Amino acid sequence: MGEIVRLQKYIAMCGAASRRAAETMISEGRVTVNGKTVTEQGVKVEIGADKVTLDGETLKHSQKRYYIMLNKPVGYVTTVKDQFDRPTVIDLIKTDLKDKRIFPVGRLDYDTEGLLLLTDDGDFSYRVTHPKFNMGKTYLAAVKGGMTVHDMNVLRSGVRLDDGFKTSPAQAEITDVKNGYTFVKLTIHEGKNRQVRRMFAALGKELGALQRLAVGSVELGNLPLGRWRHLTSHEVSYFMNAAKEDE
Ligand code: URA
Repeated sequence: MGEIVRLQKYIAMCGAASRRAAETMISEGRVTVNGKTVTEQGVKVEIGADKVTLDGETLKHSQKRYYIMLNKPVGYVTTVKDQFDRPTVIDLIKTDLKDKRIFPVGRLDYDTEGLLLLTDDGDFSYRVTHPKFNMGKTYLAAVKGGMTVHDMNVLRSGVRLDDGFKTSPAQAEITDVKNGYTFVKLTIHEGKNRQVRRMFAALGKELGALQRLAVGSVELGNLPLGRWRHLTSHEVSYFMNAAKEDE
């Protein structure tokens, strides 16, 4: 007997959509299981035995999946296709992995560099990005000017952002002070839009540069800027297991 999983998870495992998008597709009546349209959530399917279609196309559960780490440079957008035709992170990997439906896991701003994960596995993406899994993200911020002990403590205990959202406790340490900048290493556990810049903005600080150093315990290391590598099987299983779910 094959593994039994929830329908939305199966759709994500086939690389057709994220789990959340798959739930919407189910509600919209676009998914069938063994020829019958399913619109309610919670249906389970057996991998290799049940036939699932999306918009009339049979989904294939392929084993080969891609898990990539890119050292994103400034000046690239974190999307598959940009509406203004700016360079995208996919442009940096596509010559090697043509035709794979690889997409970025989460987002780094146009003006942020560093560790970006990419995959064709919707389930992996869900585990790394969903807030309930609480995956830490570590950044190195070059802050214009100085940081007081009070500033550091505010970062650590939680910052009220411009929209009223209070960030959860973070780890923060000063790693260097030079050329008018204070370098702060910061680990946060949410992924609000431009969160790190907005945390410093709440303290009246501006950032010169922002780099992501790690996601969870997986680090950028010495991967050169603009280059990518496959994650090791150890790193993939770290993400899958760091985010265990009750199913
Ligand atoms: N916080 C930011 O401000 N920008 C990023 O790209 C990531 C986190």
